[in-house]
Amino acid sequence: MNKMYLIFLLFFAASYSMSLSSADSVTIYEDFVQCFKNVTTISDIDLSDVVLPRTSISFTPTLRAYIRNARFNTSSMPKPSIIIVPRVDSHVQAAVICAKTLNLQLKIRSGGHDYDGLSYVSAVTFLVLDLSNFRNITVDLNDGGGSAWVQTGATLGELYYRIWEKSEVHAFPAGVCPTVGVGGHVSGGGYGHMIRKFGLTIDHVVDATIVDANGQIHDRKSMEEDLFWAIRGGGGGSFGVVLAFKVKLVTVPKTVTVFRVDKSVDENALDMVYKWQFVAPRTDPGLFMRVLLSSPTQNKTSTVNTKLRALYLGKADDVVLKMAEEFPELGLKKEDCKEMTWIQSLLWWMNHVDVDKVKPEILLEREPDSAKFLKRKSDYVEKEMTKPELNRLFQKLATLDRTGLVLNPYGGSLNVTAVNATAFPHRHKLYKIQHSVTWPDAGPEAERLYIGNLRTTYNIMTPFVSKNPRSSYLNYRDIDIGVNDHGADGYRKGEIYGRKYFGENFDRLVRVKTAVDPDNFFRNEQSIPTLPPNRR
Ligand code: FDA
Repeated sequence: MNKMYLIFLLFFAASYSMSLSSADSVTIYEDFVQCFKNVTTISDIDLSDVVLPRTSISFTPTLRAYIRNARFNTSSMPKPSIIIVPRVDSHVQAAVICAKTLNLQLKIRSGGHDYDGLSYVSAVTFLVLDLSNFRNITVDLNDGGGSAWVQTGATLGELYYRIWEKSEVHAFPAGVCPTVGVGGHVSGGGYGHMIRKFGLTIDHVVDATIVDANGQIHDRKSMEEDLFWAIRGGGGGSFGVVLAFKVKLVTVPKTVTVFRVDKSVDENALDMVYKWQFVAPRTDPGLFMRVLLSSPTQNKTSTVNTKLRALYLGKADDVVLKMAEEFPELGLKKEDCKEMTWIQSLLWWMNHVDVDKVKPEILLEREPDSAKFLKRKSDYVEKEMTKPELNRLFQKLATLDRTGLVLNPYGGSLNVTAVNATAFPHRHKLYKIQHSVTWPDAGPEAERLYIGNLRTTYNIMTPFVSKNPRSSYLNYRDIDIGVNDHGADGYRKGEIYGRKYFGENFDRLVRVKTAVDPDNFFRNEQSIPTLPPNRR
């Protein structure tokens, strides 16, 4: 965690119970409920499971259910004054109007997978709008090549499952983890193992409904194209509450192939990774090969584990032939490959080895309250690393407990779309790195050690990744790269992380933000700032 932000949060946590006494939180609740009743026609009985005060028996289970990072699931972390769990659109409208009227910060939460917890933690008094009831999905295969309206509280797994119920050859190109929420994922760009064939998730969004800062609902027509552009990749929590996205489906072959190749350093893992950099971003767009480099968890063997995981949108024979020509260092054999349906490939990516024994219903499981301790960071590579450079990385990584790098190839469809077509700017890179660390034990000591290890690999990578600015992927939220308290110099602070996440698209995002939410009601520690008054 960013040191300053951590100190701020801990200081706030310590003084929190004093500064926001239960009496204050009761007052906030009473004022909010009064406003909520005025704005809606909801009765007292109905209200009890929609607006939850801290004293509600449902408050803690509801909050914890979608805390997906155990670092933020401690008693000292600041808690919201109220949780609003809307059932219908008008509840969301009322939540926005009342939070704005009472000048309270509203944190919007769909799947709760924000890596730094920005959807449910804050250093200021705040409310959580929990969209877990907004999970309706309507799939229409007769609309062009197929489309779906999906509410933002649905998970990706639920979307994949509802598509599969209707067709085995329709699919949607989004993230690999089924419990990720549609709301945050799509807002931040979104990608999965079909990125090279079909591009980003946002490239398939054709409409949306959103509640703006005045509590008004808009669809694509009434929100204007600028705002529709911004909510595709510009991040959640800056422009409004997205209620639902309409997405276009894609078609996939009835049979796809997955394969895994694991190599140790003694088996020429380094040569394989070196060559991967040249092949993976340039090969057939139907082939996605991810490489995972990790240090040993117990740090006993001082070596690096290298794993390659791949999806090919076609038959095993074809990909084996292709790899023999393009990537002999991989040594891919037919026995390494498994043919299956696309929905089964999702189960395989979830680490189910024997996919015939697992039912797709597993995609509907939300696994509430199952968080681990983790931290992520991201980078983009524009030029292949040399073998000596990779060697230095391998040697250092081998000494760092539990730390890993996930290399995701770009190229293919990503290259044909302009950088400013959506708010996501990093399309024309070679590959993306996710720096990753996950650990089992609670406490500041473990956190210091493991996050320290992660920052070490991040520092090692400095010469080999994008510069001026060093780019980051918004959906791999990383508050180390800048935090905003939205005070007098909020624009300047926003520019620090904003340029890393959005490149030149940051300027247009700020203009849209200033037009649709001039009072900066929708804000969080890394939201898009408004223009300073002297520049409006
Ligand atoms: P959460 O609810 O925490 O929201 C994230 C942000 O969006 C917050 O700022 C929130 O306020 C805002 N927001 C949420 N809903 C909103 C709404 N309806 N309207 C407006 N703002 C809203 N990414 C990827 O691209 N490909 C991948 O394969 C993966 N895989 C993956 C695996 C795992 C295990 C994790 C934890 C994460 C990923 N991710 C990923 C990253 C993921 O896409 C990212 O964390 C998303 O923002 C999570 O969206 P949620 O709705 O779950 O988060």
